This record gives sequence, C-alpha cells and structure tokens, in this order.
Amino acid sequence: MTSLVDPFGRAITYIRVSVTDRCDFRCAYCMSEDMTFLPKQDLLSLEELDRLCSVFVRLGTRKIRVTGGEPLVRRGIMTLFRSLSRHVAAGGLDELTVTTNGSQLARFAHELADCGVKRVNVSLDTLDAAKFKQITRWGDFTQVMQGIEAATRAGLKVKINAVALKGFNDAEAPEMIAWAHGRGHDLTFIEVMPLGEVEKNRFDQYLPLSELRAALSRRFTLKPSSYATGGPARYFDVAETGGRLGFITPLTHNFCESCNRVRVTCTGTLYMCLGQDDAADLRAALRRSESDLALEQAIRAAIARKPRGHDFLIERAQVHASTSRHMSVTGG
Ligand SMILES: C[S@@+](CC[C@H](N)C(=O)[O-])C[C@H]1O[C@@H](n2cnc3c(N)ncnc32)[C@H](O)[C@@H]1O
Ligand code: SF4
Repeated sequence: MTSLVDPFGRAITYIRVSVTDRCDFRCAYCMSEDMTFLPKQDLLSLEELDRLCSVFVRLGTRKIRVTGGEPLVRRGIMTLFRSLSRHVAAGGLDELTVTTNGSQLARFAHELADCGVKRVNVSLDTLDAAKFKQITRWGDFTQVMQGIEAATRAGLKVKINAVALKGFNDAEAPEMIAWAHGRGHDLTFIEVMPLGEVEKNRFDQYLPLSELRAALSRRFTLKPSSYATGGPARYFDVAETGGRLGFITPLTHNFCESCNRVRVTCTGTLYMCLGQDDAADLRAALRRSESDLALEQAIRAAIARKPRGHDFLIERAQVHASTSRHMSVTGG
C-alpha cells in the first residue's frame, strides 16, 4: 500500500484527531464564554473514530494525537485509547498521545499509560492560581496540578504547553521554565493564532516568540537542540536548568515546509491545514459502506489537495480571525 504523500512531496504520517469540541474550560484565547457546541448526533462514534484512525494507520500514519476540545471529557474516551493501543502494540504506530488541559489526568493517567501512551502534552499558561482562573475562566488550578503529578507518577513524560500572551505570562516565563524543568517536564511556548472569534482583539494578546526568546536569552543560555518530536516545535537546551525549551512560532517563523500532519475533527472533517478552510468530509465516506475503500479514496483525494501552508497574519488593522474555526473545533 502506498503511503500518503502530498503535492509538495511531504509524507503525511501524523494525524491529530479531535474527539470532541466541548471543554470544561473556557480559555480566553481559545473560546468565547458562551460557545455553541455541535449537536451530539453530529459526532463520530468512538467506533467510527477508531475505524478512521485505523485506516490512517494502514495508509502510513505513525503518530496519532488525540485532542479536542478537551479530549478527556468525552464519555467513554478510554475505549478509544484502548482500541488504538493495538496499533502501538503491533508496531503500526510509533506513538499514541494526547493533548489535554490536565483536569481529568488524575482519573485517567494510569489507564493512558496502560494503553501505551508514553507522553502527554498538558496546557498550562501560568503558575499563579488567580491568573489561571482568569485565563481559563472555569479551570481549577489545583486539579490540574494534581493531574500533572498523577501523570508523572504513572510514568508518563509530561510536556507543558503555554500560549505566550503579552502582559499576561511573559514576565512569568523564567519561573515557568524553572518549575517545569525542575520537575523533568519540557516546556513549549506557542504563539497565539488567529483562530475563531473570541472577545479580545488578537493583537492585544499576541506576543512574538522572537521577543520572548530574546528576553529569555538574557537570563538563560539557550543552545539550539536537534531534538524533534515530529511536531512543529523548535527546541533549545537550557544550560542552567538542564531542561528543554520549545517554541512553536506559526507567525514569526513559518514551519509549513516540513509539515507532516493533518487534522480530523470529531465530525469526521479532514482539514489538510490548521490555517486554511479547505476540508474533506470523511464521515460521509465512512458511513457510505462497511468497506474502507471509499474512505481511503476520500483521504487520498484530500491529501492530494493539501496546501503549501497557512497564511496567518496578525496586524493591528486585522481584527477578524483568519479562519472562523476555533482551535477547539479543529483540534490543537
Ligand atoms: C485547543 S487545545 C485542545 C486540547 C486541550 N483542551 C488543551 O487545552 O490542551 C490544544 C492547544 O491549543 C492551544 N490553543 C488554543 N487556542 C489557541 C490559539 N488561538 N492560538 C494558539 N494556541 C491555541 C491551547 O493552549 C492548547 O495548548
Ligand atoms: S485551550 Fe483547551 S482547555 Fe482551553 S478552552 Fe481550548 S480546548 Fe478548552
């Protein structure tokens, strides 16, 4: 079976699957406070998600990241991890992993580890409980801390992801580095992307990571690292802490040329690029027949249209989102 290669010669070996658009938090840069979520009947069932992922594995996918919304609030989600774990056991997948806000990790960390999950990404934008409440609106800081501890105890490697927000957590960055590295966690900063409308003007939130990195270079010795996870982060070794610091810079440094991934939403829509609107409906193909042929054809046809890259742009004049989809829909 030939694998998936897009028109620019990039092999597509990584899928991010959003299993729900719902979330128990309302992070200010991600969602508006009164979100309208998809009707439950529009969602793929867990069995359908498994079938979809398994077809991708057959077509050469080596890494699956389960995301959302908050993936661990989807009812029965461990059934999906359990069934996908067979691909890890059989060597069809190099990695099964998850991006989570950490709220349910205390409950699920052990089972995730048991399903062959080795690393989890936990989003955490601040170490200050009051600021945490302010940015997540509904989140419980203590619960997330307990989740991170539970994951570590379960043997999962935890990577902390923080969205860099001007005037919110930039001053706190050195403390976050010390905290994360002191516990053996990598830390990655992400530039805020113009995805979906939120209450705030994006420009007010946007902090170019080139600025943050320059500021951190005055405090720490940052040495470029060859470490790569197959994701978009560029890593640096921090001499003072012995830890790793990543930067995901869709705006200041376009990483599209090495893109190896596509995203599937919880309704079975395949987005070939996070920052573009073109998509393919895999749900129809999935439900059309019990054979996977139509699904495979739909996937191949979509990959053949994968665009060269996104064109995110944040300027003072541009207050509207570059795509109307929130990150919680496409999956982070
Ligand atoms: C959409 S969330 C989904 C998974 C999970 N709920 C979580 O928070 O980790 C995935 C990642 O996207 C990030 N994110 C959400 N909206 C974003 C935006 N507009 N720009 C950049 N990152 C964003 C979040 O901080 C999180 O790290
Ligand atoms: S970033 Fe994650 S935790 Fe925060 S609202 Fe979006 S989906 Fe929920």
